[in-house]
Amino acid sequence: EKRIGLIGAMEEEIALFLEEMEREQTEEHVGIRYHSGRLAGQSVVVCRSGVGKVNASVCTQVLIDRYGVESVIFTGVAGALDPKLDIGDIVVSTSCQQHDMDVTPLGLSKGEIPFQKVSEFQADPELIRLAEKAASMWTEGRVIRGKVLSGDQFIARVDTVRELREQMGGACVEMEGAAVAHVCHLNDIPFVVIRSMSDRADHSADVNFQEFAVIAARRSNGIVKNMIGQH
Ligand code: ADE
Repeated sequence: EKRIGLIGAMEEEIALFLEEMEREQTEEHVGIRYHSGRLAGQSVVVCRSGVGKVNASVCTQVLIDRYGVESVIFTGVAGALDPKLDIGDIVVSTSCQQHDMDVTPLGLSKGEIPFQKVSEFQADPELIRLAEKAASMWTEGRVIRGKVLSGDQFIARVDTVRELREQMGGACVEMEGAAVAHVCHLNDIPFVVIRSMSDRADHSADVNFQEFAVIAARRSNGIVKNMIGQH
């Protein structure tokens, strides 16, 4: 049977999974707890990676090596870059890229990884379709497909938002997706990232994040729960 890896960066981002899954086993590896069991009729491993690209990378590789997951779904919140997006709206990743990979002084484009064929990692078309369907069914807000940008920075400046959109064309910005995507790419494992907007990555991002992160996290979490029921 196919096993699905489900990751969120923060506790609130996986809370619904933990409440509703039938837990069979919990183990700890490299500082992260992995909960295996069943959710919505599927075999799953749920974990909280912690924040940032390194935590997300380690977590994804452990899911693949020790739990043999055949796909990875990341759920959580993000800052909106696309002006169409309101707080609470959903972005389903078409691709992910690291916005803080910057070797532009040597002539590379922003986000391009040296000596590597692929720097923008494509999400799995079938997982995108399932995510989009579940998102449209289970939320009232807008659901868009788009590029997810990741970096080890909380973005809270209009200038940076404009720059990221102009240089890299992202729909939203967060701190883990591209790391998960990169590891999945290296291991040839399908992935998708689903993010609900907690803020607009602007001067109000800190206040908005504190107010809306928990609600947005639950929304994304609920979509993924409904999505895997149709997997
Ligand atoms: N996650 C949620 N909001 C974010 C922001 N503004 N920057 C980075 N990650 C985020």
